Amino acid sequence: MDHFPGVAVVTGAARGIGAAIATGFAESSCHRIAITDILETELIGVCKSLLTRFNPKDDPEGLTILALPGDITSEPFIEEFFNAVKAKFGRVDYLINVAGVGKPYRRSVEIDVQEFDFINNVNYRAAWLCSRTALRIMTAQEPLASPGNNEGWARPAQRGSIVNIASQLGLVSRPGASAYCASKAAVIGMTRADAIDYSKDSIRVNCVCPGIIETEMTTSSGVVREGLVDSIDIAPMGRMGNVREIADCVLFLSSYRASFVQGHAMVADGGYIIN
Ligand SMILES: NC(=O)c1ccc[n+]([C@@H]2O[C@H](COP(=O)([O-])OP(=O)(O)OC[C@H]3O[C@@H](n4cnc5c(N)ncnc54)[C@H](O)[C@@H]3O)[C@@H](O)[C@H]2O)c1
Repeated sequence: MDHFPGVAVVTGAARGIGAAIATGFAESSCHRIAITDILETELIGVCKSLLTRFNPKDDPEGLTILALPGDITSEPFIEEFFNAVKAKFGRVDYLINVAGVGKPYRRSVEIDVQEFDFINNVNYRAAWLCSRTALRIMTAQEPLASPGNNEGWARPAQRGSIVNIASQLGLVSRPGASAYCASKAAVIGMTRADAIDYSKDSIRVNCVCPGIIETEMTTSSGVVREGLVDSIDIAPMGRMGNVREIADCVLFLSSYRASFVQGHAMVADGGYIIN
């Protein structure tokens, strides 16, 4: 069965969780994927590797990818990106807002306004800008029939789905991360508010709250790794998560199998927040 007949759009797709999500869509036979990131070389690398893996013979019916590098905090770039998606694929069905930044890890009085704005501009404001642009497209497009309709009963058609990547740190806090925690709590709040506002348009909006996941963000230096040892131990499972474990949550929330899941903050953290 074709689980993802529509168009997937993934921000922050050059590496880490975003690249795993783009890969997950391609593995799940989503044939139209748009990806973006500020890291141009890495983004083109992800694009090439997905095409090599999933459409090596350049089958016109197979995987097609639009890869457009740019800064997701720029409103003109977001317009350019979504216009390009619309021009190439005609619609947006599954938006995944992944692009994010983690630093600096310092207390409120130790960070300046530029650092505060940097975190919030990428993690929250850019996710809002992308959601707003995608929602304009989604609300104007015809709904897609559910791929699950031949399972014996009909699920409602869907105009679109948005999954925001928040964080366990949007639900609980840790030392020295006030701007980051607040930006991720904002993403959870935005998810719930958009879910309420766009339910009547047959659009679902959910978010995933990852725990500590092994990516550049958590492994870029020995200092960063050491700073996370205690946090990893808080989670009963006592390990970092893998990017694929987050991609699986996103794929579920984006799919017809989550047709009644709305405004949810799905925590995938090895048990961190229950401890
Ligand atoms: N790794 C973790 O432990 C963890 C935990 C909870 C939440 N998250 C969230 O998951 C998301 C992905 O993080 P990751 O761990 O894969 O980190 P990562 O640093 O590997 O990936 C983040 C991506 O976002 C891109 N990005 C950053 N600023 C951008 C901008 N201005 N314009 C365009 N792209 C930009 C980066 O280039 C990078 O490719 C982030 O939102 C992060 O906050 C990560």
